[in-house]
Amino acid sequence: MSDGPLLVTCGLPYTNGPCHLGHLRTYVPADFYVRFLRRRGEEVLFVCGSDNHGTPIVVMAEDQGVTPRDLSNRYHEHFAHIFSRMGIRFDHFGMTDGETNHRRTRSIVNALKEKGYIYSKVVEQSFCPKCKRFLPDRYVEGICPYCDTPARGDECDQGCGRHLEPGEIKKPRCLVCGTDAELREQEHFFFRLSEFGGFLESYLPALQGTANARNYALGWVKEGLRDWCITRTLDWGVKFPGHDDLVVYVWVDAPIGYISFTEEWARARGLDWKRYWCGKNRVTHFIGSDIIYHHCIFWPALLTGAGYTPPLAVVASGMVKIDDQKFSKSRGYVVWTGEDYLDKGLPPDYLRYYLLSYTNHTKELNFSWQVFSERVNNELVSTLGNFIYRSLFFAHKFFGKVPEGPVGAATSEAIGCCIREMDRSVREFEFKGAIDAMMALAAYGNTYIQNQAPWKLIKTDKTAAERVVKDCLQIAHALALLMEPVLPDAAGRVWRMLGNTDVVETHPVSDAAVQIPSVELPEPSPLFEKLEDSRIRELEKILKGRTEKAKMAAKEKDLVSIEEFSRMDLRVGKILSAEPVKGSKKLLKLTVDIGDERRTVVAGMAEFYRPEEMTGLSVIMVTNMKPAKIFGVESQGMVLAAGEEASILVPQKEVPPGTKIR
Ligand code: 2FM
Ligand code: ZN
Repeated sequence: MSDGPLLVTCGLPYTNGPCHLGHLRTYVPADFYVRFLRRRGEEVLFVCGSDNHGTPIVVMAEDQGVTPRDLSNRYHEHFAHIFSRMGIRFDHFGMTDGETNHRRTRSIVNALKEKGYIYSKVVEQSFCPKCKRFLPDRYVEGICPYCDTPARGDECDQGCGRHLEPGEIKKPRCLVCGTDAELREQEHFFFRLSEFGGFLESYLPALQGTANARNYALGWVKEGLRDWCITRTLDWGVKFPGHDDLVVYVWVDAPIGYISFTEEWARARGLDWKRYWCGKNRVTHFIGSDIIYHHCIFWPALLTGAGYTPPLAVVASGMVKIDDQKFSKSRGYVVWTGEDYLDKGLPPDYLRYYLLSYTNHTKELNFSWQVFSERVNNELVSTLGNFIYRSLFFAHKFFGKVPEGPVGAATSEAIGCCIREMDRSVREFEFKGAIDAMMALAAYGNTYIQNQAPWKLIKTDKTAAERVVKDCLQIAHALALLMEPVLPDAAGRVWRMLGNTDVVETHPVSDAAVQIPSVELPEPSPLFEKLEDSRIRELEKILKGRTEKAKMAAKEKDLVSIEEFSRMDLRVGKILSAEPVKGSKKLLKLTVDIGDERRTVVAGMAEFYRPEEMTGLSVIMVTNMKPAKIFGVESQGMVLAAGEEASILVPQKEVPPGTKIR
């Protein structure tokens, strides 16, 4: 199977917040894949790094009153630490703000320029008149022009998931001050993505990995590709060559990080990074399905345009839900890897197992503490742990060592079958299939030991009992070797309890089928601890508390302060005249006396009041509304009315026009 080295990467986490379950849904399977293939004899390099640029980081840094660099350093360390605690072992974990990535990005952009794939154009961009600045990407919020859902400037994150180009979002508002944005012209640089449709149509069908990545991307290519704006008006990022006032869009320099991190790893070892990237490469990207577009459209086009080979495979994991709700940090539907899991003393192995075995890699994973504990208790504790501990306990108690003698043919066959099934599943990115095969072997062992009952057999036929125990220990040995990619910590413990003194992962997976030697057995201990209900209830309480708090905060956001209310200039007005608006059945044009001036107001009241009924009425009016043109008439305020039939609000006692409402 070896066609040169395999390079595996994971989507780079933004350095704007802590690691959560959504991240792990991609990283744990990638780590499993790498560990398994290495122990099948493949040469694999596993790199990742933190994504430091773009508005996600700048906005958060501004919010926290720190520099983007400080924020990035902080979260970079955080991710590196969490990954190591979770047993996710990258060969190198770089930073996109590192010098190597600045250099490689400039070199790729220059190559694209030279080949004529980049051009400049004056475009309209969102601009905040109050903050007096352009509003790139996440600095602007508005409505998706495709599906009418609230969206971020560069991405319809809550609706159709489309990438949005600058200036495209409807009703743009400044994220910082909430002011309606204006459109202003500015020169930007574009990548000729539209020229890559033909290339992508032939590249994508052959792209390996999961079908979701391939199929979504092909669908988008069929809809037609538009050129892509690759510069932003920001200080933080990789400067666009020749234009110090612009940086490249984060989605240009972030994937280039995959190359830069390979370079950094290779340089530190005096090796050549080109081995992994140039010619017929085996680059495999593990990503979340929300960034398929970037990895299957932008990235292969960028690479090809700059003269590099595009990736071999894209493996896209399904999204994570929490308690049936869309994953959302702001709404509190989030499980933090550190705070909620590792810091609570929960074993990394449990979460690795759960994430890999819960469902197929491309399907949605609906996390709940209840299901998590059921899977741990029923599968890890009752099946896998139980079989291994029973076997070791019995063997240690009655024999003190691994019995001599052959392993039964049925046992060897069950182990061989499991290795083949795991291998096939892993290569097809069916990680659940691989874990199911491993658990089927454990279940087979459990049934076998239960049916053979060596604890009874030992009283009547010691040799037969020895044979059964030998089979069970051979299965436990196979399980230790096969479980290492998913349960590295438990695998190491089983390995030692089987009397081994070396490290389990130095053995190839194929050693599972090699007969175990008759070594002495140390006293075993249970492999996994049951998760008690009381503990799960506590974890559920934390999650519930977080979502409740978010709900309260959202409600509070809707409350109006006295200061905000007092910004409304409400006054008593006297309607001097009312007449129909030409061309409209619903509107009346009112002239209202508000004390020191007269205002024209267009009101939707023609269906409920005759003009003469309104003349002379004292009304309540908002006098500091922004003027708006309605049917060609400028309306300079709003008359308050209640209900479906627009019942006009009037002061209960006579007050002169212009009196302020307090
Ligand atoms: O969506 C994200 O979280 C990005 N930080 C992923 C970047 S992956 C890559 F292309 F570098
Ligand atoms: Zn949309």
